[in-house]
Amino acid sequence: MAIKVLIADDVVETRDNIRRLLSLDKDIQVVGEASNGREAVGEVARLEPDIVLMDINMPIMDGITATEQISFQKNETSIIIMSVQGEREYLKKAMLAGARDYIIKPFSNDELLGTIKRVYDMERRKRDGIVRKAFDSEPQIITLFGTKGGIGKTTIAVNLAIALKQVTNTEVALVDLDLQFGDVAATLNIMPRQTIAELVQESGDIDTELLESYMLPHKPSGVRVLCAPVKPEHSELVTQAHTEQIFKVLKQNYKYIIVDTSSYFSDPNLVALEASNQILMVVTLDLLTIKDTKLALHIMESLNMRGKVDFVLNRSTDTTGMKLEDLEHALDCEVWAGIPGNGKVATGAINKGIPFVLGQPTSNIAEEITRLATMIVKGKAARKKQKHRLLAGIF
Ligand SMILES: Nc1ncnc2c1ncn2[C@@H]1O[C@H](COP(=O)(O)OP(=O)(O)O)[C@@H](O)[C@H]1O
Ligand SMILES: [Mg+2]
Repeated sequence: MAIKVLIADDVVETRDNIRRLLSLDKDIQVVGEASNGREAVGEVARLEPDIVLMDINMPIMDGITATEQISFQKNETSIIIMSVQGEREYLKKAMLAGARDYIIKPFSNDELLGTIKRVYDMERRKRDGIVRKAFDSEPQIITLFGTKGGIGKTTIAVNLAIALKQVTNTEVALVDLDLQFGDVAATLNIMPRQTIAELVQESGDIDTELLESYMLPHKPSGVRVLCAPVKPEHSELVTQAHTEQIFKVLKQNYKYIIVDTSSYFSDPNLVALEASNQILMVVTLDLLTIKDTKLALHIMESLNMRGKVDFVLNRSTDTTGMKLEDLEHALDCEVWAGIPGNGKVATGAINKGIPFVLGQPTSNIAEEITRLATMIVKGKAARKKQKHRLLAGIF
């Protein structure tokens, strides 16, 4: 199948020239043209090209803004920026906006074809590997747990669910088991009209049909959410048996089930931990967290779930006087992944109701969450490499 290319440039002659060059290659098909950024955004949605060749300076909407909008839509289109000499600053912005590569005008036939094919191949390889893996694997229940409120469980759960949806394009569920003070709905700006509290009060079995009617869609991402009760006192309605049944049914319909929890061993939390394929224990670099985490690990050890615990160090870049090695030594374990501290982006995202993986996909914390999502899909093999990155990020 030919590589579908869209050409966005305000100069007709340039578009004609590029079209002529590309027509010589049977692997490439020009599917459309746009004379400004806004048109390009519209045409990408309509034509779903593999590649956009994007000029920077265009009327109505420039190429960088268009690149940002197209990347934000998270389609499978890669953008190659065409710039003239001396636009270095713009180039940097364009790459930050999500462009995959750039090419300097005037370019030769070979340069153009080479760049298009390289970008296309790279994207396809990246996508194929991860998507295939996601489709082939068994349903995965991944629970975020931690011994403290405010440690980042909800932030990571919500953004991780969205990132998993983005990198795998499979069915992703997000379950809020912080039954008294669940924050997932608010973080996603969802109206929790129907929650787990109403679900468990329904007469009859919790089957696929009933449960699905309670899985609220988060439209911007495609993740489906089971919200926590609106009233804290309703948390007590949810029993161990309910929770077991909910996970049983979810596993029939979702590839990834991400669970947010409260910071204690409640019955529903225990069910989630028990059912999990992987438990992501969120830790930070401070003494109390270490002390409590050790106690929690002790309990998990006795419940036979220690083997599936992996540690995620949140705010890994915050300077606290404590080092990663200290933490690992105290917990007698290796940290699996790190999420940098970025209060501005994290708090901004909550205030806007748009998780940063969607709203600020190029921020350092969004990128690390996306990396965590790909590590989860790839499985434990991704462990070793991350270690070096983690150290590099902290020191
Ligand atoms: N990596 C981070 N950098 C900066 N702030 C963070 C980070 N992770 C979480 N936060 C902030 O910390 C607060 C508590 O996070 P939250 O995810 O609600 O914790 P928990 O669910 O464990 O109680 C929130 O205001 C959130 O924006
Ligand atoms: Mg929380």
